[in-house]
Amino acid sequence: MIRFLVPFDLRRLPVLDAEILIVGSGAAALRAALEASLARRVLVVTKNRRQESNSYHAQGGVAAAVGDHDSAESHIADTLRVGCGLSDRGMVEIVVREGAELVRELIRWGAPFDRADGRIAFGREGGHSLARVLHYRGDRTGAMIETTLLRRAAKARNLRILENTFAVDLVTFRGACHGALVWTPAEGLRWARARATILATGGAGQLYRETTNPGVATGDGMAMAYRAGAELMDMELMQFHPTTLYLAGAARALITEAVRGAGGILCDRKGRPFMKKYHPMAELAPRDVVSRAILDHMLKTRDTQVYLDVRHLKTVRRLFPKLAELADQYQLNLAKDLIPVRPSAHYMIGGVRIDAFGRTSVRNLFACGECATSGFHGANRLASNSLLECLVFGRRAGAAAAAEAMLPVPKFSASERGRVRAGVELDLDDLRNALRSILWRNVGIERDAAGLQYALDSIDFWSGYVLDRTFDTPEGWELQNMLLLGGLMADSALRRRESRGVHSRRDFPRTDDRRWLRHIVVRRESAPRLVANAE
Ligand code: FUM
Repeated sequence: MIRFLVPFDLRRLPVLDAEILIVGSGAAALRAALEASLARRVLVVTKNRRQESNSYHAQGGVAAAVGDHDSAESHIADTLRVGCGLSDRGMVEIVVREGAELVRELIRWGAPFDRADGRIAFGREGGHSLARVLHYRGDRTGAMIETTLLRRAAKARNLRILENTFAVDLVTFRGACHGALVWTPAEGLRWARARATILATGGAGQLYRETTNPGVATGDGMAMAYRAGAELMDMELMQFHPTTLYLAGAARALITEAVRGAGGILCDRKGRPFMKKYHPMAELAPRDVVSRAILDHMLKTRDTQVYLDVRHLKTVRRLFPKLAELADQYQLNLAKDLIPVRPSAHYMIGGVRIDAFGRTSVRNLFACGECATSGFHGANRLASNSLLECLVFGRRAGAAAAAEAMLPVPKFSASERGRVRAGVELDLDDLRNALRSILWRNVGIERDAAGLQYALDSIDFWSGYVLDRTFDTPEGWELQNMLLLGGLMADSALRRRESRGVHSRRDFPRTDDRRWLRHIVVRRESAPRLVANAE
């Protein structure tokens, strides 16, 4: 297994010096940067524009027990119930309790959450026992939070953001991380040298043909961490969002769950509702239940989609401006037409394994946000819990990295030779599409051993001629990262011989608490192992 994607010699590379390097620029990255920059010089690198992240595209909102009608206990209970037994209770307590405080802080920093009669207006989403989701202009919450954090970051001393800078690999020496190899078209490869590095690179939805995620979500941070020897956990757990616009030729735009919270109904092409047949909470059942119900209903009705009915919601255009804009683009009249939807890959629950302070298993390497996993979400993420998690683990990782980055980077050298395979041209788009299709069909909402094995064999075969060559652009590196992660996801999904939360096995439909109340942890060049929470 290759350690570095690109050839380099540290002695010859230009250096970008920082005390703390943060890779990514979503909510977790920015919250970490704000915290770390109170004490240290921070460099943030992000592979696209600073706004381009899963956080920015998050619509529904941020769940937080900050209303008078709510309590931390109730939010904790909902999170644990939806997590299907796999949540780490300690992590849930931390995120819910600290998260409420950090949402209040965000309000003090100027976050203009929607209000009614001067008081915060809470929305309700799937799996929540009451309305506790704060939002902004209905479905523009992620963009607002990201903008609030970026404004604050612009004023922070000690904080520099480099856009269009691709982090290719982590630099390690004797089991500790000392920054990353970063690349820009103008400057080529450089060593972003740092005492501590925080990965906050977001998710991996682009591994699937159908996804709500933006193009940047190719799982680079997880792949980089794995190559550097860090543990990854729960790689079989990808959450599918039930309602993505499904129109031929249209982008697979997310239709926020808050629309169902406001009364939107899932139905067939004749407008007949079906969710009550599947779960007493109907449209507001947990996401895994709704996604599987839609799949089952599509099979029963031999349709390629189901529909969201908002015709009876008089205020839908005002409440959900993003949805209104989308409808206008594709000439859907929300007062008359049903909206065609189906599920798609949305949120990577698995990722780089972290402790309560964002520490990974590699010294000086931290992670937070969607690329990390602490056990907080269990086997199924409660709607709108992830922006909350970004704030909490972002702050914790930023504080811990700053406190622990005491020693300067030691003097050492490292290098890697290029791997060249002459004479074979690769169509990277074709390979990427093939990978995304195979994951969608075989490592998707429902899986079984035959499909997972087929996916693994195909990925192994492609990896044989893709992973052993050297690319010199992000397209090639992203593909290599995606192949690595696709293989890990299929392999972990094959190992978990039960159904739990978002992991649904046709051949093992039951939940097996006796054997599987454990997480699958994988690490380069070691056999996968099972761990219980708080181990
Ligand atoms: O439906 C949504 O707006 C998504 C929320 C989330 O993923 O938490």
